[in-house]
Amino acid sequence: MLKTLLILCGSLLLCEGGLVKIPLIKFVEEKNLSHELQKLQIKFNITDIATMPPKYHYLDFSFYGKITIGTPPQDFLVLFDTGSHLLWVPLKTYTLDNEDFGRHHQYDPEKSQTYQLNGQPFFMIYESGYLSGHLVEDTVSLAGKEIQNVTFGVATYRPDATFRYAPYDGVMGMSFFNSSLHYAPPIFYDLMKQHKLEENVFSFYYLRNGSTRLGGELTLGGINPDHFEGQLHYVNISRKYHWQFEVESAHVNKIQVCKKCQVIADTGCNGIGLPRDDYHRVNRAIGATIDPETYQFVVDCNKINQLPEITFKIGDGIFTLSGQDYIKRLNNRCVSGFHNIGSAKFWILGDLFIGKYYTVFDFDKSRVGFAKTKQNIQITI
Ligand SMILES: *[C@@H]1O[C@H](CO)[C@@H](O)[C@H](O)[C@H]1NC(C)=O
Ligand SMILES: *[C@@H]1O[C@H](CO)[C@@H](O)[C@H](O)[C@H]1NC(C)=O
Ligand SMILES: *[C@@H]1O[C@H](CO)[C@@H](O)[C@H](O)[C@H]1NC(C)=O
Ligand SMILES: *[C@@H]1O[C@H](CO)[C@@H](O)[C@H](O)[C@H]1NC(C)=O
Ligand SMILES: *[C@@H]1O[C@H](CO)[C@@H](O)[C@H](O)[C@H]1NC(C)=O
Ligand SMILES: *[C@@H]1O[C@H](CO)[C@@H](O)[C@H](O)[C@H]1NC(C)=O
Repeated sequence: MLKTLLILCGSLLLCEGGLVKIPLIKFVEEKNLSHELQKLQIKFNITDIATMPPKYHYLDFSFYGKITIGTPPQDFLVLFDTGSHLLWVPLKTYTLDNEDFGRHHQYDPEKSQTYQLNGQPFFMIYESGYLSGHLVEDTVSLAGKEIQNVTFGVATYRPDATFRYAPYDGVMGMSFFNSSLHYAPPIFYDLMKQHKLEENVFSFYYLRNGSTRLGGELTLGGINPDHFEGQLHYVNISRKYHWQFEVESAHVNKIQVCKKCQVIADTGCNGIGLPRDDYHRVNRAIGATIDPETYQFVVDCNKINQLPEITFKIGDGIFTLSGQDYIKRLNNRCVSGFHNIGSAKFWILGDLFIGKYYTVFDFDKSRVGFAKTKQNIQITI
């Protein structure tokens, strides 16, 4: 018994009693709306997202954090994505023709003593093309905490031109595992199995306001009370596949735009995705009109402060987004952050919502929680 405890305590956080805190770095990126919607289409298996006019671009924030892989550690900047499951990074190839990954950190198995080949091929459709490679196993470290024998993908092919210039190297999926659908469990499962956390909970703090590069924090093992104020409101997961739950209702002014809607919390999604009818209903209710050039819902930039709030009832909590929160500015255009996700049967709450509300993903109790994000006063706009 004592021996077991000693072994357990050897490298375990449990014994250190702390939270694992990964700082998030904020980038301003030019996004191609058509690509953003394709990403959602693939992640959530939506067959008919409306094709968007290809010219529509906007500037928005992205939040990435550092992880390391291998022994000795190799650095990667990844998107922490609650809407997907696999961890993948580019593989180092010694041929000169692999331009897709040229600017990115590339995992070099030959330089890692803990690398093991798995060999199973993996394939993911991605935006304007696909990503492919094979699976390997290695040690992955999150904020210095080691997780052994993590199965993840190393990509050898990705034809998407936008990725070439993107600041991030790969994606770390954080959704639920289904062995009949997924290549390997999300890394959080390894973390849980190796008993490295006090609670099997992780929380996202996205700091959208503010001009510093510090963009928030991913906390593993619990919640960080420094980053929210007031009470956390929880709601049970309705389908343990994505982080999906039921929203009691949503209103714009007196207009009800959702009644017992299914909603997915997705940290890797830009904006808020709505099924086609809801998309029209919500955008009309906020007073947006269709811009004939881009077919996007837009508002008069001078009137953002007068736009109605959208109010969500989630569990026993009320959450609102104001015009300041849900409108995106690009040059002189003010575009609605409510996007059309076609025939989907659910809403997707992305960074617009998670930026305003600190979001807790609780594996132990199969629930998500929200509380108002604390805006850091020393960070100026
Ligand atoms: C994706 O949707 C199609 C059509 O609705 C369905 O046949 C298929 O099983 C779905 N795939 C997954 C992985 O859910
Ligand atoms: C945006 O994405 C669409 C669809 O993939 C593509 O046709 C278009 O060229 C992209 N725009 C740019 C500037 O990359
Ligand atoms: C990881 O794999 C190595 C080699 O197969 C094994 O010795 C070690 O016990 C494994 N570690 C864990 C935590 O499973
Ligand atoms: C896993 O996916 C399969 C195929 O879509 C489905 O039949 C099964 O119910 C899923 N299992 C769980 C635990 O969700
Ligand atoms: C949420 O799930 C827990 C058990 O997992 C249950 O006790 C509780 O009643 C559920 N809450 C609601 C509002 O359904
Ligand atoms: C950002 O600041 C504006 C103006 O102070 C405020 O209205 C908005 O709610 C803030 N956004 C978030 C996500 O806190």
